[in-house]
Amino acid sequence: KHCILIGAPVDCGKRRRGCLMGPDAYRTAGLAEAITALGHSVADWGNLTPAQVTVAEPRNPLVYKLAENVGWTQTLMDAAQKAAPQGFPIFMGGDHALAAGSVAGMAAHAQAAGRPFFALWLDAHSDIHTPDTSDSGNLHGTPVGYVTGRRGFDAFPPLPVRVDPANICMIGLRSVDAAEHEILARGDVELVDMRRIDEEGISAPLQAFLDRVAAVGGMLHVSLDVDFLDPSVAPAVGTTVPGGATVREGHLVMEMLSDSGLVTSLDLVELNPFLDDRGKTANLMVDLTASLLGRRVFDRPTRSYK
Ligand code: ARG
Ligand code: MN
Ligand code: MN
Ligand code: MN
Repeated sequence: KHCILIGAPVDCGKRRRGCLMGPDAYRTAGLAEAITALGHSVADWGNLTPAQVTVAEPRNPLVYKLAENVGWTQTLMDAAQKAAPQGFPIFMGGDHALAAGSVAGMAAHAQAAGRPFFALWLDAHSDIHTPDTSDSGNLHGTPVGYVTGRRGFDAFPPLPVRVDPANICMIGLRSVDAAEHEILARGDVELVDMRRIDEEGISAPLQAFLDRVAAVGGMLHVSLDVDFLDPSVAPAVGTTVPGGATVREGHLVMEMLSDSGLVTSLDLVELNPFLDDRGKTANLMVDLTASLLGRRVFDRPTRSYK
């Protein structure tokens, strides 16, 4: 594989600051070196900056930094479409607002390539608000709303192609707002909440989704939010929710994704290095990425977090 690291220091998707340091934390934790150690090549495209745009006042007065979010969406949509034909894009966030652009751009690429597009959302949250339904005004809670073509994103770049909600699987859910629950209850998004993981394990629902992607030769984008993981192992995130995935559940997901050969792009989002504990979360995210790219536990001594 040829991996393309795209630095997306998006910090406007919520009020708590720090995600802008994410890309450099991944570099410091050795993301590129971990990838080359697996026999892949890497190009680091550096950190992008958002397109400068002007927007009308949002209807919802709580909405935070609309213009900057719109600018990032445009920039990342373009970057995804530029990178995808050349290799495997890894979007180093930055908060989850970046996925409006990365997912929309990858979906546009899939359409141009004539292949169905799927997204796996590994997250405590469903992020399917619109700017109008958000009760926080934080747009990192809206990227799934945008890519599935919900109304209320008129300030944003026109969506190149709508992602079919039936092609989205969310795993790790444990914090869903009422307005999100309402839309999810009506829709076709595949929902795997923590209770289902407790009862069935994480591999059965994931394998069922992967089988669906494989059956139609789909391209699969993975959006990995740090808060998918339990805060005890991944503290460097502003929106911690107790009861998340374990280290092993995280690796199992990544190893199964690796085995499937279906994944064509990846977001690493919501890492806030300002909140980390001696690089523990950044290191774990790098290790998970390595599992996705083929590292297996017997290939190397286990890294201990000291
Ligand atoms: N649902 C909450 C909100 O809309 C939290 C969103 C958290 N999203 C995230 N990407 N961490 O404000
Ligand atoms: Mn999220
Ligand atoms: Mn989240
Ligand atoms: Mn909310």
